[in-house]
This record gives sequence, structure tokens and C-alpha cells, in this order.
Amino acid sequence: MCRKLLCRILILLIVLHYSMGVVYELLLEDEKVFTECTGKPKGYLNMSGFWDFTDLGLEMVEEGVIVSGNMTSTWKVDPTDRIEGAASLFYFDRGSWQQTVINMLVRDFCKSMYEENQFWQMYWTAHATNMEDVKDQCVNFGTTLTLETYLLDMKFPLDVPIRTGRYKIVVQMHAIDRAGVRRKNSICFQIRGELMKAT
Ligand SMILES: *[C@@H]1O[C@H](CO)[C@@H](O)[C@H](O)[C@H]1NC(C)=O
Ligand SMILES: *[C@@H]1O[C@H](CO)[C@@H](O)[C@H](O)[C@H]1NC(C)=O
Repeated sequence: MCRKLLCRILILLIVLHYSMGVVYELLLEDEKVFTECTGKPKGYLNMSGFWDFTDLGLEMVEEGVIVSGNMTSTWKVDPTDRIEGAASLFYFDRGSWQQTVINMLVRDFCKSMYEENQFWQMYWTAHATNMEDVKDQCVNFGTTLTLETYLLDMKFPLDVPIRTGRYKIVVQMHAIDRAGVRRKNSICFQIRGELMKAT
């Protein structure tokens, strides 16, 4: 027996725990992982204007994508620029892409590029073996991240239940100069896949 208030708190915690416990998995559609944005704003660069993947291996296997090797920044930004990132999730419904409520804006990406529990940290920067050497360089032109061999399986818990089906994540990166003006070399790329409940 527990006292009334304590009981309520316990029950609430249990309910919260279960509602947050839904883990989804995005099964990537393309071995290249990143594809060209559809309807890319004029002047925007694609992934190859951001990172050179020549020395990076991406191999699709049943469980995800095996990543290994080096990636080098090709993005001509000034080291003093503020780097902003935005990601939006779209759902494919009856022949067209529909916006969802899941959006994310990171005002100062460089501050949290290696911060624990961020999506990009879990799926990407946590695997940089030369993190200590490059963590102050953010994504400056010429920076090379050496990635250990790892399995990229895009599993993530969501606190809002969403429909399974075909989705895309559209990512845009912007460099903002010291006067607060956005440079013209913004990046856009997308990741497409089938979203399902992870087992
Ligand atoms: C990215 O853009 C470059 C130049 O604008 C183009 O040559 C290349 O094919 C594009 N890459 C992809 C993956 O679409
Ligand atoms: C990645 O860079 C490291 C350090 O420069 C080098 O030892 C390694 O051979 C490179 N790997 C590939 C696949 O280019």
C-alpha cells in the first residue's frame, strides 16, 4: 500500500515511462544515406559541398549501414561563422511529402557538435577517433573526421507516437557571418527511409 499522492506519482511515472518507451527505427532507402533535396532552394549545396566522402566507406547490411574511414569538410565557411542547423521530418502520403510536427533547430551547432545524447553525436561524431584533435575545428574547411568502423542503425525513442511508413528527414545547414547575415552557401541534404517500430 502506498499513500495517495505517492501512488499517483508512481503511476504517472510508469505511464510516462511506457509512453516514452516506443522505439522507432528508420530503415534507410539508399546506401549513400544522403540524397539530393527535392526542391532545393537556389544556390544551396548538396552533401558533396559539405563533406568529401571519397575516403569513407558506407556499406548497407540488413541491420543498417556500416560506416568507416575519413570524411573531410569541403564547406567554405569562415571559422568565426556561427553554424546553424535545421531538420524537419516529412511523411509520404498518397503521392506527396507532408510536413510533420517534428522539427528541430540548432542555433549554434559547433557548441554541441560533440555533446552527448544529441542525435548527430550518437549516430556520427561520437565515432570520431580523432575527436580530441578536431573538436575545436567544428566543420571548418579541410577538417577531417576519422571514424571508427560502426553500425549506423537509426533507432530512436519518441515521446509522441507517429505513424509508421515512408519518411524523409530534410537537413539544412547555414553559416551566419559576424554581422548576423546568412552566407549564400547553405547546405541541404535528405535522408529517406521506412520508419517502423523497432523490435
Ligand atoms: C551535388 O552537386 C554537385 C555540383 O553542384 C553535383 O556535381 C553532384 O552530382 C551532386 N551530388 C549528388 C549526390 O547529387
Ligand atoms: C584515415 O586517416 C587516417 C589518419 O590520417 C589514416 O591513417 C587512414 O589510413 C585513413 N583511412 C582512409 C580509409 O583513408
